[in-house]
Amino acid sequence: MPQLIVDGYSTFEIPAGQRLVLALEGNGIDILHRCGGKARCTTCMVVFSEGEPTGMTEAEKTVLEAKGFLGQGRLSCQITVDVDMRLSPLRTVSSSGLEAGPAPLETMEPDPVWT
Ligand code: FES
Repeated sequence: MPQLIVDGYSTFEIPAGQRLVLALEGNGIDILHRCGGKARCTTCMVVFSEGEPTGMTEAEKTVLEAKGFLGQGRLSCQITVDVDMRLSPLRTVSSSGLEAGPAPLETMEPDPVWT
């Protein structure tokens, strides 16, 4: 199982292929996902220090470009945990005072088109 190191939290073993946003939330990290994991809000953004995927969904690229965040972080709702990763979440319930948002589905939304 891939290992997920979350700076400021802990190290977790993640079932291969799980959506990153769900891997984080399932391990007690209160990451925001205000659009429900649909690549619209960017509140699920994380910054990688290891294991950043080279592939990016078209949906992720589009919203990161539109909001001026391309190159600053990645959307945890548009990434599955397939390799060891180390990262920091940027926005959480406790840091923002916002509600997390609707629960993301187990499968990626929208259907991934890889760039
Ligand atoms: S972009 Fe909204 S949860 Fe990922």
